[in-house]
Order: sequence, then structure tokens, then C-alpha cells
Amino acid sequence: MDGMRAITIPEFGSADVLRLDEAEAPEPGQGQVSIDVAYAGANFAEILYRQGVVDVPLPFVPGIEVSGRIRALGSGVEGLSIGQPVAALTIVDGGGYAEVVTTSADLVAPLDNHDRLELDVAAALPSNSTTAFLVLDRVARIAPGEDVLVHAAAGGVGSQLGQAARLLGAGRVVGAVGSPAKIEAAKAFGYDEVVLREQVAEAGQFDVVVDMVGGTARRSSLDLLAPMGRMVVMGNASGAEDVGISANDLWFTNKTVSGFNLAAFSAAFPEEAGRALRRAVAAAARGELRVRVESLPLEQAAEAHRRIEAARTTGKLVLEVERI
Ligand SMILES: NC(=O)c1ccc[n+]([C@@H]2O[C@H](COP(=O)([O-])OP(=O)(O)OC[C@H]3O[C@@H](n4cnc5c(N)ncnc54)[C@H](OP(=O)(O)O)[C@@H]3O)[C@@H](O)[C@H]2O)c1
Repeated sequence: MDGMRAITIPEFGSADVLRLDEAEAPEPGQGQVSIDVAYAGANFAEILYRQGVVDVPLPFVPGIEVSGRIRALGSGVEGLSIGQPVAALTIVDGGGYAEVVTTSADLVAPLDNHDRLELDVAAALPSNSTTAFLVLDRVARIAPGEDVLVHAAAGGVGSQLGQAARLLGAGRVVGAVGSPAKIEAAKAFGYDEVVLREQVAEAGQFDVVVDMVGGTARRSSLDLLAPMGRMVVMGNASGAEDVGISANDLWFTNKTVSGFNLAAFSAAFPEEAGRALRRAVAAAARGELRVRVESLPLEQAAEAHRRIEAARTTGKLVLEVERI
């Protein structure tokens, strides 16, 4: 058995609990591959694991997405080869903040036909860009010309949702952000207009609203839905109390509220999640989806968490694990 370095969560708590440990490199099971990790995406999701908001078995190696090269193939895996550069979702069991990770072969996107994609960018795509397509296309079933509002528009997933909406033929695409400094950053991600969250009530009506902030943002978004409008709930970054939604109000006003969770979706529908991942990777390789990436070394995972928790990031942070 080979050893590897991995960031672990030994107990739930603040970013200070994260620890760089030595561990055994995992071997792929049936239908899985192992990957030598070049970069691991840093996401809000890992904050929720670390805080114990999402219950995980401890000690836990977080990390829901990586780029790197295939290290070994489990039994029954076809169409992938050792040494192949890939981007992958590791969201079902985590483990991405490590030198080696295993995942289902379904959740892998080969990169060898996408020369233009650098491995740091490739690590930023699996969670956010895949989610953006699934939320708009599969969940909200967006139609050409429909108007879209996206919360936390300058963030990791927010920066992808605006661009994906545009690619899917949306009409007016509006982003909402939490501070004035993020307005210009969000505009660079394809939004027609960007407003402050507290001014969102004046932004008009929308056919689709994507909310990952929760609290007052969620409450006001419901009022912004046009008749037959759909709100997709996909996070609660504000940490606010859950918002009660009246089913009778939805009935009287022709509105729909849906939920989306990529981890549960990938576990239930790995082939479809993999297809959405490969669609996102191809769009990024064609230059249709832009990602703004900043890289920190794996050892600085705690610093990455602190920045995400303090809403200090725009675009995407990735952790450099190994030069491959
Ligand atoms: N359901 C899924 O499958 C799925 C997939 C990807 C992401 N998500 C969710 O989408 C959200 C964004 O995730 P991300 O990884 O892309 O991170 P991110 O956008 O880079 O960071 C979260 C953003 O949320 C906003 N926010 C509002 N209140 C906040 C608070 N009290 N503390 C920190 N941030 C706050 C901030 O943007 P402003 O400054 O503009 O307010 C912040 O930048 C998270 O809620 C995450 O759980 C869900």
C-alpha cells in the first residue's frame, strides 16, 4: 500500500480543525477509478461537512471534485486508461483533498481532447458547472427567452449559472450579490444586470430564480416569480433559519419551488450526472464557460475555508495537490 497526504476533518468545528495527515492511498473498487490528484476544488459544501451541518463519518477527507490523471482502473471499467488526464466528481464519498482519490467511472470526464483546459480550471468545473446545467435544464426546465435571477452571482456556482443560462437561451439574466465590490466581478460572468441583494425587490419578475443563499433572499425571491415561475433551492449559504413556504400560496399563484442537491443526484443518477459533467467540461473547453480560478497549496485548505466562509472569494478557489 502506498501512502499519501490528505487533509482530514478529525472533529467538527472551525477551519482550525483541518489537519494535513498521512493516509493509505485508496484502491478503486468495481466500476471505480483512482486518480492522482493535481488540483481539488474548494467549495462551500466542504464548510458544511467540516461544521457537521452535513453529517459525515469522522475522520473525513473532504473534497467533492478534482482534476488529475487516472492512476488505476477497478474491475469492469471500460473506455478510460491509466495516465489519462481527467476532471471528476468525488462528491458521493468525498476524498478530493488528497493525493489519491477514488470515484465512480461514471463521474469522470476525460480531458485528452480538451487541450485548452488547464488542470486548475478543470478542477473548478465538476461541481459548479455541472450543477449550473442540471439546475437550469433538468430542474427548472428553462425555455428559450425566459428571464433568470441568480443569487450569489459572483461566487463559484453563481458565476457558472449566469453563463449556463445564456448558453441555454435565457432572456434577461440578472445576478444578485451581497456587496458592491462584487457587482463588477459578477458582470464579467455574463449577467445583463447585477443588483445588490437588498435591492432585489426592484429587479422585476423572473421565470426562474436560483437561490443558494436562503433567509431573506429566499423569501423575497418567491415574490419575484412570474406566474408559472420556478424557484430552485440549492443551498443556504446565509445559515439562516429555514423559510416556510405555503403550498396553498403556490397553488393560488401558479408558482413552483424545487430542490437540487448534486451529491444526492450523483449517487442516484451517476450516468446522468456524468453526462452533465462532460457537457460542462466541453463547454469550458470551447471557451463558452469561463471560470476565474485562484490556487492555494493543499496545506492552506484552512485558509481557503476561511475565505469562502467570510464571503471573500469571487469565482473559484482550488487547492494545488501535486504537480502532475
Ligand atoms: N445543491 C447543490 O448541489 C450545490 C452545488 C454547488 C453549490 N451549492 C451551494 O451554493 C452556494 C454557493 O456555493 P459555492 O461553493 O459556489 O460558494 P461561493 O459562491 O463561492 O460562496 C458562497 C457565497 O454565498 C454568499 N453568502 C451569503 N450569505 C453568506 C454568509 N453568511 N456566509 C458566507 N457566504 C454567504 C456570498 O456571496 P455574496 O457576497 O454575493 O452574498 C458567498 O460568496 C452554497 O450555499 C453551496 O452550498 C449547492
